Amino acid sequence: MQSYTTTAKILHWLIALLIIAAFTMGLVMVDIPGFTPTKLKYFSWHKWLGVTVLALAAVRLLWRHRNRPPAHPAGMPAWQLKAADYTHVLLYVLMFAVPLSGYLYTTAAGVPVVYLGLFPIPAAFEADTALKALLKPVHYWLNMGLAALVFMHVAAALKHHFVDRDDVLKRMLP
Ligand code: HEM
Repeated sequence: MQSYTTTAKILHWLIALLIIAAFTMGLVMVDIPGFTPTKLKYFSWHKWLGVTVLALAAVRLLWRHRNRPPAHPAGMPAWQLKAADYTHVLLYVLMFAVPLSGYLYTTAAGVPVVYLGLFPIPAAFEADTALKALLKPVHYWLNMGLAALVFMHVAAALKHHFVDRDDVLKRMLP
């Protein structure tokens, strides 16, 4: 069986875990009423998780460029090959667009991001109220798009494993 490299597998599962953590924390933190220390702490953790995803996504894209993934199983219908390729490209786009939109939203809000409380990330531009109002729903809807795609991605992986009984899921497992 042709498999993914160990590095590709580690990046895949680590990024998946971090995205689920950032997504859940995002939904939880915005529902905390008022401005409590817990809410501020969750906002910071959320941003650190997101910045980590962005950095790892860059490493992953570089790695994929140098280490091509194994070919699709033979005999897959053309529409499924296309659907898989488009989904994977969109997943890569959103892996960057979701954290980037969060960073741009925070920048527009005029809130500095200090990664892990240690490393200040420079603001890309001055605080801007109109841009802040625009970027908040952008960050939200990119997240909903990512959630929908991840759902399809997982459903397809399970279908390959349990219905088609091919190696698609196995080659991404340890
Ligand atoms: C994988 C990366 C990320 C995911 C999955 C994610 C997910 C989410 C989700 C689901 C929400 C709740 C949206 C809502 O209900 O309105 C949220 C809110 C938020 N995110 Fe992210 N996010 C990511 C990265 C980032 C980054 C890198 C930053 C900033 C550096 C950031 C800043 C924010 C802020 C400030 C909010 C609160 C918006 C508000 O004021 O209501 N996010 N995020």
